[in-house]
Amino acid sequence: MTKSVKIAPSVLSADFSKIGEEVIKIERAGADVVHLDVMDGVFVPNITFGIKMVKDMRKVSRLPFDCHLMIVNPEKYVEQFALAGADYITVHYEACGKNSASVLNKIKSLGVKAGIVINPNTEVSNIIDLVPLCDMVLVMSVYPGFGGQSFIAEVLDKCRAIRRLIDENGYDCLLEIDGGINKNTAKLAIEAGCDVLVAGSAVFNADDTCAIIKALRCEE
Ligand code: DX5
Ligand code: ZN
Repeated sequence: MTKSVKIAPSVLSADFSKIGEEVIKIERAGADVVHLDVMDGVFVPNITFGIKMVKDMRKVSRLPFDCHLMIVNPEKYVEQFALAGADYITVHYEACGKNSASVLNKIKSLGVKAGIVINPNTEVSNIIDLVPLCDMVLVMSVYPGFGGQSFIAEVLDKCRAIRRLIDENGYDCLLEIDGGINKNTAKLAIEAGCDVLVAGSAVFNADDTCAIIKALRCEE
């Protein structure tokens, strides 16, 4: 049996005035994971939400929460995101640099799954030694900061390389992709070996949430 890809709607494109209802809507429509984009206005040129928002959303959903921290010094906040109910916390290689391994280990010591994220212009060679520490690797297919951008197809080569690295070494690690995912690019990402597809605008701008989540799985 072929394994099914997981769909992780990003609530960045949800209506924040009714965020609880939006989370319930995607859960009922068949989402596998809730992707939470935390931005600090320093690491990226946008500001979204923080710990309390995650904690309050936690009250309405049992889905795994995937907190994508687009912030500087993420090690200062990972414990609070863990306590708020994160199941996965991913941090950028570009924000952690040589401290990446210790930040990943800190996340894992909190009982939360840990992931490293690379921007479109960051090479896989930078994270080869980190992948064995990761429960997830996130490849950005747009420059982080905003929803609704176009997919950068050049990152698919990096997805294939990370897929090979995971499979050849038998690492227990998911490969996630984030940015510009729609019905067409989902197919390319799945072909390149991605396990988890993040989709913000494609899911929240669709009239039929259930249908778009099903379509993004590209199963038939
Ligand atoms: C971008 C965020 C993404 C974003 C994806 O910085 O990390 O998760 O919400 O949005 P779409 O799917 O609209 O590209
Ligand atoms: Zn994201």
